[in-house]
Amino acid sequence: MNYRPLGRTGWKVSEISFGAWAIGGAWGNVSDDESLAALNKAIDSGVNFLDTADVYGDGRSERLIAQLKKSRKEEIIVATKAGRRLPKQTVEGYSRANLIGWIEDSLHNLSTDTLDLVQLHCPPTELYNRPEVFGILDDLVKAGKIRYYGVSVEKVDEAIKAIVYPNVQTVQIIFNCFRQRPAEIFFPKAKQKQVGILARVPLASGMLTGKLLLDSKFAQDDHRNFNRHGEAFDVGETFSGVDYKVGLEAVEEIRQLLPAGISMSQFALRWILMFDAVTCAIPGGKNPAQVADNCQASNVPALNKETMTSIQRIYDEKIRPLVHQRW
Ligand SMILES: NC(=O)c1ccc[n+]([C@@H]2O[C@H](COP(=O)([O-])OP(=O)(O)OC[C@H]3O[C@@H](n4cnc5c(N)ncnc54)[C@H](OP(=O)(O)O)[C@@H]3O)[C@@H](O)[C@H]2O)c1
Repeated sequence: MNYRPLGRTGWKVSEISFGAWAIGGAWGNVSDDESLAALNKAIDSGVNFLDTADVYGDGRSERLIAQLKKSRKEEIIVATKAGRRLPKQTVEGYSRANLIGWIEDSLHNLSTDTLDLVQLHCPPTELYNRPEVFGILDDLVKAGKIRYYGVSVEKVDEAIKAIVYPNVQTVQIIFNCFRQRPAEIFFPKAKQKQVGILARVPLASGMLTGKLLLDSKFAQDDHRNFNRHGEAFDVGETFSGVDYKVGLEAVEEIRQLLPAGISMSQFALRWILMFDAVTCAIPGGKNPAQVADNCQASNVPALNKETMTSIQRIYDEKIRPLVHQRW
């Protein structure tokens, strides 16, 4: 496993880290035993950074991570999120009282006195015009409740606005072979300001693993079933907002580029790691086999120029017209 600096925090984190949404909820049934096995496999593979949120299974994901931390001696850095407990997303909802309450809940779930990194969880765009919210986060740092803070955003424009605030250490954004726009304008700016970038949904909700078929079925409580068209939350979080059939066609073209001896997941993750502005990819993993497969991406040699150009071409032809300006 290779490690990269996380913004200006002084931490070096595994370039393949772990996204803990699926082990909380909204991805069909996952047993806690299997989730803990997946988490342990991540640590065994050199992962030292986990991304979770208070709302993933209403604290279940955070509590599993607390359990993991108790049983391991390695340093494990945990990024959580706050804001999605609001019944409706409003800027006013990001009040001091609410933020303090959410942080206290996460401290409790994670069994700790200080949270390593708290990310605002895709707040409304207008929030980036409200310096007072970032002032509250500064106060929480001073009070010792959180070490660092960052944001998780839906849109490139939000990411650009967020890093104007000097103490924003990280930006989490969707970035993968099907979501390339962040690399255009945002990555150079983030690099210049030494802001860490967490590439989320790196496998396009599993589509880039190459295992999905036109007739694949998803459980009722899996967002790939209930949010296919953005019914519950931003459609970009499900298959990166790419039409399912078009996505499968593009995946077949990507498969033709696969070098011998590596999996499609490793290939998709290695593509992300080609961008040095990225701190880490945070693939979700539901079991040890998936985690082992994903972590192996850190050992895959750099993709050559021809391969990068081919992926760009597939994106430009099939995906760009559908999604590029949307986020
Ligand atoms: N708003 C936000 O801030 C936000 C939103 C979304 C995600 N996130 C974060 O980003 C993380 C990653 O995104 P994501 O979990 O949505 O999507 P993802 O990482 O693109 O896809 C994860 C899913 O793909 C499948 N998978 C993973 N590795 C595999 C492998 N090697 N072989 C076969 N299948 C594999 C698993 O589901 P199946 O086995 O069921 O196919 C897994 O749950 C999340 O866990 C979360 O921490 C944050």
